[in-house]
Amino acid sequence: MSEQKRQETNAKTERLRVVTIDGPSGVGKSTVSRTVAAELGFTYLDTGAMYRAVAYACTKAGISADNVDQQDALALLLDKLDLRLLPPAQEEDDVRVLLGDKDISAAIRMPEMSMAASKVSAVPAVRARLTAMQQEMGLAGGLVADGRDTGTVVFPQAAWKFYLDASPEERCRRRVAQLRERGQEVDEQETLAQIIERDRNDQERTIAPLVMAEDAVLVDSSHLDINQVVARMLEIVSVT
Ligand code: DC
Repeated sequence: MSEQKRQETNAKTERLRVVTIDGPSGVGKSTVSRTVAAELGFTYLDTGAMYRAVAYACTKAGISADNVDQQDALALLLDKLDLRLLPPAQEEDDVRVLLGDKDISAAIRMPEMSMAASKVSAVPAVRARLTAMQQEMGLAGGLVADGRDTGTVVFPQAAWKFYLDASPEERCRRRVAQLRERGQEVDEQETLAQIIERDRNDQERTIAPLVMAEDAVLVDSSHLDINQVVARMLEIVSVT
């Protein structure tokens, strides 16, 4: 075997059997990731749910994660964090999240937790703790991870990396339609402003910002439906 061939083979075997799907909020990552995981028989890891759970725990404990006077309290909370992700009762539902014995699945999906999670996720101690937990979950492979930094920081050696994108306007249109379908009243301008603000928070933070990994495949879903996005990804996973 030539030296080049040997190096290529080694590089492949060193890759983790993990699919990473990163991208901004509201781009459909969780539905796509859940479906890709089901199709491949992989476990789905929703890293955003973990940041939401920490935001929830901080709120309940009266801790503002970015307050320097509360860093000791935050360290203690992270140290004692008893967080578990379980498969949903129904395949199309979000993952179930337990904090201790308490099911916080619904609470962490409330709109106020989105912004709180975005803020908490900029705190280095929080990222260090959750990144370590996620890496441990990925050790055995067979995982589809979705988030903002799963291809860049958490699993840089993942075998398949995707960056799912769509314009803020398209993401706003989908979000408004989804909320109206649930009978909720929504202000389109306000929703768009929130999407843009969260994008900015996620992209401009100094630690593990939302950025496309150099070796990720960009999938722009602005003009694709979920099935088309999933098919595109599965095609790439199956040939590499
Ligand atoms: O994907 P989501 O909307 O549930 O994520 C909630 C917040 O958590 C989001 O604003 C950014 C943050 N997050 C992160 O910083 N890194 C991840 N890997 C996943 C989410």
